[in-house]
Amino acid sequence: MRYPIEPFRIKVVEPIELPTLEERERLLKDAKYNIFKIPSQKVFVDLLTDSGTGALSQRQWAAMMEADESYAGSRSWFRLKKAIENFTGYEDPIPVHQGRAAEKLIASIFLHEGAGVASNTLFDTTRGNFLSVGARIYDLPTPEANDLSSDYPFKGNVDLNRLGELLKENRIKLIVMVLTNNTGGGQPVDLDNLKEAYALAQKYGVPLIIDACRISENAFFVKRRNPKYANWSLREIVLESFRHSDGAFMSGKKDGLSNMGGFLVLRDEKKRMRAKELLILWEGFIHYGGLSGRDMESFAVGLEESLDETYLEHRTGQVAYLTERIKEIGWNVMWPPGGHAVYVEVRDTLQHIPREKFPAHSLVVELYRRGAVRTVEVGSLMFKEAARYEFVRFAIPRRMYTRSHLDHVIDVMGEIYDDRVSLVGYRITYEPPYLRHFLAELEPAP
Ligand code: F0G
Repeated sequence: MRYPIEPFRIKVVEPIELPTLEERERLLKDAKYNIFKIPSQKVFVDLLTDSGTGALSQRQWAAMMEADESYAGSRSWFRLKKAIENFTGYEDPIPVHQGRAAEKLIASIFLHEGAGVASNTLFDTTRGNFLSVGARIYDLPTPEANDLSSDYPFKGNVDLNRLGELLKENRIKLIVMVLTNNTGGGQPVDLDNLKEAYALAQKYGVPLIIDACRISENAFFVKRRNPKYANWSLREIVLESFRHSDGAFMSGKKDGLSNMGGFLVLRDEKKRMRAKELLILWEGFIHYGGLSGRDMESFAVGLEESLDETYLEHRTGQVAYLTERIKEIGWNVMWPPGGHAVYVEVRDTLQHIPREKFPAHSLVVELYRRGAVRTVEVGSLMFKEAARYEFVRFAIPRRMYTRSHLDHVIDVMGEIYDDRVSLVGYRITYEPPYLRHFLAELEPAP
């Protein structure tokens, strides 16, 4: 494909630096080979995450200047409230500082020891929050997602047969549909799949919640890949998605195009009241939920901007460009290209490194060593035995990097491919009980 032209020009610049090889090697050693511990100033192209890392628009900056930092009744909250209501179709939203705060509220309100949660695949913080109250997690990705290289357009779908079986056996207390399916390769969920999952949920009287982090990107794929919705606007698709749920939460750091923010919406008024009580205890008053007025302003504008089709065309075009070039080199990638990131499956290419030695982490380290490129492992280091793949994720921040940054990544991936037999595995020397990848310490294990 042709590289997508940026539908913006650059008004503010932030210098970046490429440290020397010697420095990069020393930094890796000091960081105990954990990429989260590298100072961002020493990263040349940072594809660690698309969460809160994007560039703000001039409209967002302008709105932030008008922010109201009052504790109660803030003007900025009422702007954000209206933006969330327009975006979701839900009333009376609850602000949170980021997605995982909403996950904690949901875990406390809906779940208990032994309660079953079914999902197309939960994200790691959602899983962690639900496990911490003793829930049982059932990830039910569609069988089509097992074939990484097929053209199947909606590999983020939930397996409706398995979902139906578990509901029939009365094992499920909550269904969470993640749009797009981040852990499953940034792949979209078809609106029809969501509708069928919701019909099942209603049949068995089980609530369905949407994890709406990347729902604008999801809507773009629904419009492009399901001819039934080709003439719908993105807003109509997003609203139709929310209509098929009993609640939703969103990290505003993704499709909210904001550096910080999130919300929770719930249809059930009693549950909403319970959420507000806990919110005040954990996050802050119901008119800011842990956010500054500036965050609320930029989030309110970001929600609107995320539905601009020109923006989404560029965004998904960047992901497609990087996916295609990396695939051409010979790496296995999750196909077709997803919404926010490229996912490279390394097992075939790095056959000499067994899964116990974290082959995807080995590529993460090598990308930094060779090119000061930062990515993240989504495999055995992150998910232990539950890992279905050994992925390296290259998440592209919104509206930030240009073609030459992506070409740098492609060049480094080319070099590594040629020298792939030189890569070594890693062993863990320290790990915490939850979400171990964030704090783990490692050493090379040749
Ligand atoms: N759900 C999904 C699908 C996510 O991708 C994330 C965060 C969250 C929930 C939690 O939101 O970070 O605001 O608390 N994903 C980031 C990532 C961290 O890099 O994919 P949060």
